[in-house]
Amino acid sequence: MSDKIELSIDEANRLIEKYGSPLYVYDEEILREHCREVRGLLSYDRFVPNYSAKANSNIELLKIIHSEGFTVDAMSPGEIRIELAAGFDPQEILFVSNNITYDEMDMATKLGVRISLDSLMQLKMFGERHRGGEAAVRINPGIGDGGNDKIITGGHSKFGIPIEQIDKLLEIASDYDLRIIGINQHIGSLFFDTEHYVDSCRKLLKEAHRFRDLRFLDFGGGFGIPYRYRHPEERPDLHEIGERMDELIEGFMEDYGRKLMVKVEPGRYIVGECCQLLGTVTSTKQSYGEKYVGTDIGFNVLMRPVLYDSYHYMVTYNHEEKEETVNIVGNICESGDILARNRSLPKLHIGDVIGVRDAGAYGYSMSSNYNARLRPAEVLINRKEGTERLIRRRETYEDLLSTMRL
Ligand SMILES: Cc1ncc(COP(=O)(O)O)c(C=O)c1O
Repeated sequence: MSDKIELSIDEANRLIEKYGSPLYVYDEEILREHCREVRGLLSYDRFVPNYSAKANSNIELLKIIHSEGFTVDAMSPGEIRIELAAGFDPQEILFVSNNITYDEMDMATKLGVRISLDSLMQLKMFGERHRGGEAAVRINPGIGDGGNDKIITGGHSKFGIPIEQIDKLLEIASDYDLRIIGINQHIGSLFFDTEHYVDSCRKLLKEAHRFRDLRFLDFGGGFGIPYRYRHPEERPDLHEIGERMDELIEGFMEDYGRKLMVKVEPGRYIVGECCQLLGTVTSTKQSYGEKYVGTDIGFNVLMRPVLYDSYHYMVTYNHEEKEETVNIVGNICESGDILARNRSLPKLHIGDVIGVRDAGAYGYSMSSNYNARLRPAEVLINRKEGTERLIRRRETYEDLLSTMRL
């Protein structure tokens, strides 16, 4: 099976006709395939893969990922609510918090969801409210890696408790009788190199001995996917990562004296490639020597190209063979609303359907109502079962107005 969702010209056109444009289309089998690959990452017997729902929190996709044996993390109370609604047990959710309020801590604790605290101050705040309680901590190991500066989180970033502050961390935990039952880290997103990830695991394990109440260790996500297609094989070598981590983990557990649960928490690797975002060409224009193809995929629908200068491979669903170089743009009133620059693509005409590959991660979850545009629908297909179902309806103008009807 392909690693990525493939659509025929007829299929793409039919889907747009049936569900409207733009439209996120997911392939269930490919999603499951990626889940299984990550599930096989470690042979350590207490390994539990964890999905990072910030990448995509559609309830139906979460149910599938849950059924593949994954736990889940949450970055906000909203994600916790959606995950509970998708059927995750509170104990299967880790709230990887960042600068949260007392109320948010209380809410998660009341729901039975574990929190990972990411600063000494937040640990103190938790201790004030939940003296004698249990918490996890996010450690920043001082090693980062990722696709660009905005998504590297290890080292200089706002995340985690610097590894040098562990003495102080243990002091605070003792002051408030807190049991530190888990440690997590995440060094960044969209990395391809094995070295930094494995080094950060080694570094974390060295310090983990100092925590005597641990139940789990979570090494984070960030595994890159080949957006560029220049090297379709360009993926982090999960096999190598797994082998090297297994060795480190087995050694650690022997010294620690107990077998802890071990997790990783990828988001993109699970959901990125099973999805294509379809849209429609609405206009074309020649301006100052460049050709612009206008579409209904504004950056309110897919934010990554504008936010991170990200590259997404574009597919055209017409029968044209003659190619030309174009900029594919959206319909948002911002000159930065550019989906793809200088792409050589078969000539596009008004009404043609186009596809944006690898749109499953940080696609819908980052969409917005900017310019009071509506967010699109999402559809899930299962080729083996020959089914196709709407898993989120398109927004309506009534949805837009509803929060302002007071
Ligand atoms: C704490 C944490 N865990 C996991 C992830 C998932 O990263 P990715 O989708 O790149 O695997 C992120 C993403 O930034 C994160 O911040």
